[in-house]
Amino acid sequence: MQTTNIGIIGFGTVGSGTVRIILENSDLIKERTGIKLNIKGIADLDIKTDRGIKLPKGTLVSDANKLIEDPEIDIIIELIGGTGPAKDLILAAIDKGKHVVTANKALLATDGNELFSAAQTKGVYLGFEASVAGGIPIIKVLKEGLSANRILSVYGIINGTSNYILTRMSEEKVDFDAALKEAQELGYAEADPTFDIEGIDTAHKLALISSLVYGIPLSYEKIYCEGISKISTLDIEFAAELGYKIKLLAITKISDGDVEMRVHPTMVPVNYMIAKVDGVFNAIYVEGDAVGETLYYGRGAGDMPTGSAVVSDIIDIAMKKGSSYHDPLRPYGNARIKSIDDIESNYYFRFTALDKPGVLSRVSGILGSHGISIASVIQKGRREGEAVPLVVLTHKSRESNVKKAISEIDGLDVVSGSSVVMRVEGDED
Ligand code: HSE
Repeated sequence: MQTTNIGIIGFGTVGSGTVRIILENSDLIKERTGIKLNIKGIADLDIKTDRGIKLPKGTLVSDANKLIEDPEIDIIIELIGGTGPAKDLILAAIDKGKHVVTANKALLATDGNELFSAAQTKGVYLGFEASVAGGIPIIKVLKEGLSANRILSVYGIINGTSNYILTRMSEEKVDFDAALKEAQELGYAEADPTFDIEGIDTAHKLALISSLVYGIPLSYEKIYCEGISKISTLDIEFAAELGYKIKLLAITKISDGDVEMRVHPTMVPVNYMIAKVDGVFNAIYVEGDAVGETLYYGRGAGDMPTGSAVVSDIIDIAMKKGSSYHDPLRPYGNARIKSIDDIESNYYFRFTALDKPGVLSRVSGILGSHGISIASVIQKGRREGEAVPLVVLTHKSRESNVKKAISEIDGLDVVSGSSVVMRVEGDED
C-alpha cells in the first residue's frame, strides 16, 4: 500500500472540510486507489480553536515552514487564501520539490503565470480544481473530459454570493444589503465582500477558465469586470416582465478569432437552464465543437464541496506518483483578447425620460445614428410631463456605439440621471 504524506496549510473552512473528508473517506479512497492519504501536519496561526476534528497529538503546528521543510511530506495543500504569504509558501514548497494543491483563485489569477512556470521547472504539479466553482469538477472537465474539443464558449455563474443576492432580490424582494449579510453569515462570501459583489472573484476564476480553454497566459487584468452592486429591484422586475432573469455571468468565447473575457450582470432568458440556477449554486455552460452544449451544476463554495475538489487533486497527484507531470496551465495559444468596446451583444437600456410627445423620437434618433437597431420599447407608467422609465431592448449592437449613444442620450434635457445599460443573452440577431 502506497502512503502519500500531506501537509495542510490553513485550518479554516476549506481546511477543515478537506481534513474531514480525508479522515472520513480514507478507507474508501484506499480501496478505490490503493493509496493511503496520511495527514502528516496541519499548520495554522490559530492552533487553539476546536474544529470538532480529532487529530493525533502534534499534527497541528503554528509554523507552516515546518511542513515545507519536512522531507517526508509529498504534497503541500495551501488553504490560507489571499495574495500575501500564500505565494511565498507555495514557491517555497515548489522549490523543495513538493507538489502543491491550492484553492487560491485570487493568487493564481494574479501570479499564476509565475507559479505554474515555477512548478513546471521543478517538475511538480500545481493542482487548482478547488479554485473554480468549488465542488464542481470543472477544471477536470475542461482539461480532460473535453480535451478533444475546440471550446466555442463558456458561460458561468461562478460566484455563489452574487447569485444568492440576485436570487433573494428577485424572489423575496430582499434588499441588496440584507441579502449580502445573509450570504456572509452562511459562510459563502469572501473575506472582502467587494470581491464577490464587484465581480472580482468571478473574474479571478474566469482568468483560469479562459487560459485553460484557449491556451493563453493568465490575463486577469484584461478581463472586463462589472459587478452587481448597482443592480436595482426595478431592473430585476422589468427583466422578469420581459422574460429574463439577471445573472452575474463570466463569459469567455471565441469571436472572430479573438478571445472575449468578460464578467457582468446579464439578462438571460428565463427558459435557459442557466437562468434556473438559483441561490448559492454555481453552474457552467460549455459548448465544444464536438460535444455540443454541456452544463455542470453544483455547490461552488463551502467546506465539504471545496474540500471534495482539494482531495480529488491530492488523489490525482498521489496516483500519478513517479510519472511525469505536465503543467496544467501551459500556454500554447496566441489569440488576441478582444476589447470590450469591440464586442457585440443585444442590450437593455432603462432611461428616465420625460413623458411628453417627441421624447421617444429623440432617443431613438440617437440610437439610430449610432447604428443601434431597436427590438422593442416600453414606457412604464403614464405621467404626462413627468419622468418615467423608458425601457429599450436592442438587436445586436457594438459596445463602442452603445457607449457613444448612451452618453449623448444622458445629455438630453428630457432625460434625467444616468441610464441603465445591461447586456442581454438570447437569440442573437
Ligand atoms: N466567495 C465565493 C463565492 C466562494 O461566493 O462563490 C468560493 O470561491
